[in-house]
Amino acid sequence: PVPRNVRSKVYVFAHPLIQHKVALMRQTNTSVKDFRELAREIALLMGFEATRNLPLEEVEIETPICKTKVNMLKGEDIAIIPILRAGLGFVDGMLELVPNAKVGHVGLYRDPDTHEPVEYYCKLPKDIEKRQIFVVDPMLATGGSAVAAIDFIKQRGGTNITFMCLIAAPEGIEALQKAHPDVDIYIAAKDERLNENAYIVPGLGDAGDRLYGTK
Ligand code: PRP
Ligand code: URA
Repeated sequence: PVPRNVRSKVYVFAHPLIQHKVALMRQTNTSVKDFRELAREIALLMGFEATRNLPLEEVEIETPICKTKVNMLKGEDIAIIPILRAGLGFVDGMLELVPNAKVGHVGLYRDPDTHEPVEYYCKLPKDIEKRQIFVVDPMLATGGSAVAAIDFIKQRGGTNITFMCLIAAPEGIEALQKAHPDVDIYIAAKDERLNENAYIVPGLGDAGDRLYGTK
């Protein structure tokens, strides 16, 4: 267990490419197609940084000149876990970086009245306890969904977990750090606050609806 006074690290991306793409995603008139493509591109850019500490293994290969030892990713040791639905928008970008990663799914939705997360699905790679896990979801609002998803993953043996999202509210960051001080958080943009419906302000609206055109 992590001592009570230890806080996870929070990384907010200042990179201009990421800021520009997040700005496009926020705009109401961005199409579903563009929204989806931007989510994939941002996942790829963020994933590049979030995977900085992935373990490597030494492998012997043959170049046209000679045999040599090189470092390669232990691809089978990674799991990407989107929180359904909207987290799916991050999977393709991450898989472009680590194509051998396994993908687990946690299905949660926020009860519209209580804003509490309700679980409806959980399917993880069998050997989840051995894997470096990236939990992905575009929005960290109250933090309820991320906290619950990571609870489920830990109950099933996951230990080495990183959380990645597009936009976070201060309330969500606080809740996630408090519940899971061992989980580092990568955020493309930190917003001002939540509104009375627990939506992020200024945010981008309902990420699932915008990704799949359901509203
Ligand atoms: C959204 C989002 C997060 C959650 C964040 O999902 O994708 O999972 O809300 O809110 P929280 O931090 O307050 O829990 P939603 O419940 O709308 O489900 P959906 O992805 O199926 O649309
Ligand atoms: N879920 C979303 O999709 N958007 C928000 O702003 C908050 C929760």
